[in-house]
Amino acid sequence: MKRTAILSILMGLAISTVVIQSCKKNDTPAVVTKPTLYDSLGSTTMVTDPKNSSAKIEQGYLTIRSVIDSTIFVIAADDNINKFFNVLLMEVTAGNTSGFSALSKNLSDFVAVGTGAKNFTYGGKNMVAAHDPAQNPRMNGKAMNDDFDSFEVDLVKGAGQNGIMPDNPALKSLAAIVESLRTQVVQN
Ligand code: HEM
Repeated sequence: MKRTAILSILMGLAISTVVIQSCKKNDTPAVVTKPTLYDSLGSTTMVTDPKNSSAKIEQGYLTIRSVIDSTIFVIAADDNINKFFNVLLMEVTAGNTSGFSALSKNLSDFVAVGTGAKNFTYGGKNMVAAHDPAQNPRMNGKAMNDDFDSFEVDLVKGAGQNGIMPDNPALKSLAAIVESLRTQVVQN
């Protein structure tokens, strides 16, 4: 074979390699996903569940559940709004924590899904039904705007008990989600 023919074959090979490489690049574009609020709360990193040392739990879910549980306790002691939770509080006082566990799970699942968690689903009532005493006998009366404000203050306190301070950007984002639900919860 002539030298020029070999050269042109080699050049052709070089060009097709470049084309294949660029095709490959186009076929498999890098997937760039924006971090979610759930990611900033700890994401899917598995850690030991402090409530059950033989189980693992996603750090993001653990952060949320810890804040929720603390907030439920803050609400229980808050005379501005604890009357709404009278069914729950009577149960707990009588030593029955099943309602507390169910509320903790539903609230945590709700917030987890709302902040971008992928491995959880919310199976409770929608926000209107959950806060309408006619549809949820565990809701003792209709919440007013003032009650909602108290709920938000208690949530910030619950977060603070877990080292999440009011200037934390994740808490600010969460507060914005909570605020967006005001009209569904306050139904007067
Ligand atoms: C954006 C704010 C709020 C969110 C995301 C929220 C979320 C929830 C969720 C997910 C449930 C459980 C529903 C179910 O199990 O099917 C629930 C129940 C309840 N919520 Fe809210 N809530 C909010 C604000 C409030 C406020 C302001 C009050 C009253 C002042 C309130 C009082 C209650 C009560 C009494 C229950 C029933 C608790 C029980 O199971 O014993 N919530 N809420």
